[in-house]
Amino acid sequence: MGKIILTGDRPTGRLHVGHYVGSLKRRVELQNSGNFDEIYIMIADAQALTDNWDNPEKIRTNIIEVALDYMSAGLDPAKCHMLIQSQVTELTELTFYYMNLVTVSRLQRNPTVKSEIQLRNFETSIPVGFFCYPISQAADITAFKATTVPAGEDQEPMLEQTREIVHSFNRIYGETLVEPEILLPENKYQMRLPGTDGKAKMSKSLGNCIYLADPEDVVKKKVMGMFTDPNHLRVQDPGRVEGNPVFIYLEAFSKPEQFAEYAPEYANLQEMEDHYRRGGLGDVKVKKFLLNVLNEELDPIRKRRHELEKDIPAVYDVLKEGTEAAREKAGQTLAEVKSAMRINYFDDPELIRSQAEKYASENK
Ligand code: TRP
Repeated sequence: MGKIILTGDRPTGRLHVGHYVGSLKRRVELQNSGNFDEIYIMIADAQALTDNWDNPEKIRTNIIEVALDYMSAGLDPAKCHMLIQSQVTELTELTFYYMNLVTVSRLQRNPTVKSEIQLRNFETSIPVGFFCYPISQAADITAFKATTVPAGEDQEPMLEQTREIVHSFNRIYGETLVEPEILLPENKYQMRLPGTDGKAKMSKSLGNCIYLADPEDVVKKKVMGMFTDPNHLRVQDPGRVEGNPVFIYLEAFSKPEQFAEYAPEYANLQEMEDHYRRGGLGDVKVKKFLLNVLNEELDPIRKRRHELEKDIPAVYDVLKEGTEAAREKAGQTLAEVKSAMRINYFDDPELIRSQAEKYASENK
């Protein structure tokens, strides 16, 4: 059986470097590895609406932002299908049938849903659509017969829920759906990049993100203003590397050969860190190095984005074609699901024949 990838993002804003090291870069590598037969990258607008139903304009305008970020980071429409979730109506249909296989208490136990309910102050009144989004996510994954879902560990409960749905479905209706596996990030920096302010997570609402689309001068301002070790006041003071976002970014982004080029007094990151710990290495110097490192990664992305921005209709065409391919695949799965569930009445000559026969003999 072929290996198939499905993954995606909610289009609630532009993607930042945290998304990039955490998932986007990996997707591009997986795409180029040649190890997968089909790759679907989904802009999950319908899921985004489950907690943004009152602001569809936000979702609508961010679809193109995410698509531009995808393609400028290296996702290639010749190698993967980029699609818009809401336009694959088969997904909604699958969701409805899967709802029969999940209990309310099981959804309430989903840890990701639990913490999101708290985050959004939904405790007293949870919208049904939001509550059911793990079921819709199971539809996303199974519609494409995905074997592999590259995602962060926060998505683990969604995969667990999906596997349960797959098991129930296959047990009740016969072997139809494919059980997916999560593909977790390989190292801790891919798991979570802190914000420029040192807070645990980059988040748009905290204003502590470096976006893939940020121009060079904006990145410079953000990097030079980054939080470091608050006790490292003078250059000669010893500094802390642990929990210092400047060093965390360096661990996530710097390559050994960049030291020779931009900071030749150090052979590698270890030596730079040791100097910082001892004292005598100023923040400004480390930040300037980080800026060079980041720009090396971001420059080609910015250039590609700039080119893509010149022909926005072409980017929508990519999404349209990706969505058409996705509908084709999801349509096949939906047909198999309906046939397994015995709700394919018009495609079932045996049903019509046997009912006709029954009435023919009754009315003899
Ligand atoms: N829940 C994911 C997120 O918040 C987005 C998503 C929707 C997704 N459907 C998916 C991820 C299916 C992986 C597989 O980022």
